[in-house]
Amino acid sequence: MKSVLVTGANGQLGQSIQKLTSDYPQLNFVFLSSIDLDITDINSIEKRLSNRAFNYCINCAAYTNVENSEKEPEKAFKVNSEGVNNLALVCKEQQTVLIHISTDYVFDGEKETPYVVSDPTNPINVYGASKLMGEKHIQESMDAYFIIRTSWLYSEFGKNFYKTILQKAREGANLNVTDDQIGCPTYAGNLAKYVLDLVARESKGYGIRHFTDEESLSWYGFAEKILRENNLSDKVRLEKAKNYCTFARRPKYSVLKS
Ligand SMILES: NC(=O)c1ccc[n+]([C@@H]2O[C@H](COP(=O)([O-])OP(=O)(O)OC[C@H]3O[C@@H](n4cnc5c(N)ncnc54)[C@H](OP(=O)(O)O)[C@@H]3O)[C@@H](O)[C@H]2O)c1
Repeated sequence: MKSVLVTGANGQLGQSIQKLTSDYPQLNFVFLSSIDLDITDINSIEKRLSNRAFNYCINCAAYTNVENSEKEPEKAFKVNSEGVNNLALVCKEQQTVLIHISTDYVFDGEKETPYVVSDPTNPINVYGASKLMGEKHIQESMDAYFIIRTSWLYSEFGKNFYKTILQKAREGANLNVTDDQIGCPTYAGNLAKYVLDLVARESKGYGIRHFTDEESLSWYGFAEKILRENNLSDKVRLEKAKNYCTFARRPKYSVLKS
């Protein structure tokens, strides 16, 4: 029986993994929320992972607010870089394989074809920079790790674009959505399955990987799809947003080759 620790367990991905546990009876899970285990506190991590208690640690903990990261960069770096470094150091010491989730925002978006793992990184916002630094800490201190870059996650859990569009559409609101960024929306349940299959198969192909649902869309295109899937296309007016502006810069093309 393999033992698996999941950090940040109450986020979108953490809950998506929790939902799948019955499909993996050969894995013994411990789920820890941010209250149970703060990854910025290395002493707590050392206590939780002591005595080689876990074969795998799936890190779903992250500071994911892209806009606030610009305003409070120290918070983003504390969790996404320092916290990840803590996990990497303890996992190495305890011979625990670390599975860490990273982002398409490590790229600048200037490419016109899907990003492959070996493409040069060049984040253009604080969130992306903090996540890239987390990746580098893992690579510097560990051999047995997976860094899985993904993009535009949505699920039935937490706050995400899919749920926001659906809610607004059901309220009858008109929708203005930008079409000047292209990426791959990814259902967190599919990512959860991909991660758990890596564990169940005891895959040894360590390193960086990209995982998405592979269909590239703009946010506008994604909104269209959400309305279509929910038979709401005829009931709401969806328009392309003009002069769409956010505090954080975002890559205009961040399709990952999965
Ligand atoms: N969401 C996306 O579109 C997207 C895209 C690409 C990559 N990713 C990456 O995918 C991963 C999962 O994302 P997600 O959407 O599931 O994120 P999420 O819903 O925001 O969940 C992140 C979780 O991390 C927890 N957390 C924050 N600081 C922590 C700390 N110091 N110690 C322990 N836990 C902490 C949060 O708890 P609290 O709520 O209590 O703070 C939250 O439960 C992240 O690594 C993210 O960077 C996400």
